[in-house]
Amino acid sequence: MRWLPTVLLAGAAGMAAAQDAQLGERLYDRYCSACHGATGAGDGPMTRVLTPPPPDLRHLAAQNGGTFPRRRVVWRIDGRDPILAHGNEMPVFGDLLAGETLDIRDETGEVLHSTQPMADLLAFLETLQDG
Ligand code: HEC
Repeated sequence: MRWLPTVLLAGAAGMAAAQDAQLGERLYDRYCSACHGATGAGDGPMTRVLTPPPPDLRHLAAQNGGTFPRRRVVWRIDGRDPILAHGNEMPVFGDLLAGETLDIRDETGEVLHSTQPMADLLAFLETLQDG
């Protein structure tokens, strides 16, 4: 059974590659921190010119009964949901976060068609949650 550890390791590496919070942090710093702040607190330098102000991204799970609202967050960022995407100052990042397509699971376990960069960004946003 010498092959077993190799297979397990390959599996673990595959999972790590599926969602990489460190890559997500880089995307966040580049595209999001100007408004949402370096730590997600909603205190980026752009805040004073934005109405409404950018929300504190650390409480998304807490505000949703303790479950990170993956689907809403992804749709909000990629602009897929027209109601969520229009009528506010949150830019749409669908094109910027284009890349290899990747199906991720939303908070109910349903498949959410998305991309690798979005999955990484989501993993990083989940690390910001305060409870
Ligand atoms: C130009 C400033 C700006 C940038 C850049 C920006 N946002 Fe936002 N974001 C906002 C504002 C303002 C809102 C609130 C809009 C509203 O409530 O109508 C918002 C809302 C959100 C929401 C919705 C929260 C909720 O409760 O549903 C999420 C999630 C979010 N932003 C994530 C991101 C991510 C991730 C990035 C980077 C890819 C990003 N934002 C870049 C300004 C920005």
